[in-house]
Amino acid sequence: MAVYGSPLYVYSRHDIERNWLEFDQAFGQHPHLVCYAVKANSNLAVLNTLAKIGSGFDIVSQGELERVLAAGGQANRCVFSGVAKTKQEIKRALEVGVRCFNVESASELDRIEAIAKSLNTQAPISIRVNPNVDAKTHPYISTGLKENKFGVDIDDAMDLYQRAQDSEYLNVQGLDCHIGSQITEVSPFLDALDKVLTLVEQLNKNGIEITHLDLGGGVGIVYDDERTIDIKAYVEAMIAKVGNIEIILEPGRAVVGNAGIFITKVEFLKQNSEHSFAIIDGAMNDLLRPSFYNAYHQVLPVNENSNGIQASWDLVGPICETGDFLAKDRDLSLSQGDYLALMSAGAYGFTMSSNYNSRPRVAEVMVDGDQHHLVRERETIQDLFYNESIING
Ligand code: LLP
Repeated sequence: MAVYGSPLYVYSRHDIERNWLEFDQAFGQHPHLVCYAVKANSNLAVLNTLAKIGSGFDIVSQGELERVLAAGGQANRCVFSGVAKTKQEIKRALEVGVRCFNVESASELDRIEAIAKSLNTQAPISIRVNPNVDAKTHPYISTGLKENKFGVDIDDAMDLYQRAQDSEYLNVQGLDCHIGSQITEVSPFLDALDKVLTLVEQLNKNGIEITHLDLGGGVGIVYDDERTIDIKAYVEAMIAKVGNIEIILEPGRAVVGNAGIFITKVEFLKQNSEHSFAIIDGAMNDLLRPSFYNAYHQVLPVNENSNGIQASWDLVGPICETGDFLAKDRDLSLSQGDYLALMSAGAYGFTMSSNYNSRPRVAEVMVDGDQHHLVRERETIQDLFYNESIING
């Protein structure tokens, strides 16, 4: 903190590598590609760390694609997901040669076909099906139910595949499905896979060959005391069902979540008859998950403080919103000036941060063995409005 200031995100290169390799190695000899979901943490140093060990990438925008390329990742190891790919995004993805488009609607299929035609090329596609299974997770991060906006109803997928098969500008490759995030049991994944495999059989009968299954991301991590999925058992259970077909996975949180922390400083302590508030320099604009999903992040003191005030503290930020809290009711001994670490903040931490209340976005640091590197500078006040202008008159 003395070097980089506060608040701050800190990531561990070693943990990112270990988490990705756990997925990769669980496959053994089975054909597979582990495509890290860039949205979880898109810092170039994170992407570069993963590119160097052979990761593929799951992207949802041209911005993410360009980040992957800038970080040394390969386009032909990228799968392009997302419900609203623009014409420009599709064109660019075709030009650089992404591995596959995960198509989420009939109109998107038409759009991809038209752009492939204009470039006189073939677009590799998978259809993202919605298997209508309950991922048993927070409703905001559940995606595999009929009520969600994602994917194509599994019962309508056959028609779309037939259309794709008949097009000279589309090349059917795979079948895709992603049912949600922070899933802590294997059974919803296996239920979804069973439905997907029934469709693969029907497709085969109609002469449509599927060469990979993209089973999405969603593996949950430990934030508190939950039990979560054993990755080896999960991968092996899937391999047992699919035969020889290649499997693509898109883990985000499970790769970077536990590999990052958010550091914040206690600015003031404020106690009234009912509540003890620790007012910290970090806020909901820096780490949105607690306010947005009521998510739990463990809080640890950076240095033990036995002379502080022992209480059950709410950690609240400087933002003018009652919902601006990072943690509630934590038994800690605190003094003004203490540093605290919010654990498991490597996924959907920095990437969901904003400039709300005109707060510069925080710095990011990566620890590599006994070295530490600044991998994103703290924004300056000038950065906040350098591209704005006033009108004359
Ligand atoms: N693939 C697709 C198509 C996705 O939509 C997602 C996440 C992933 C892969 C990666 O899922 P993961 O392995 O990270 O669970 N902001 C929320 C999480 C939103 C997840 C959105 N999609 C949070 O902070 O909990």
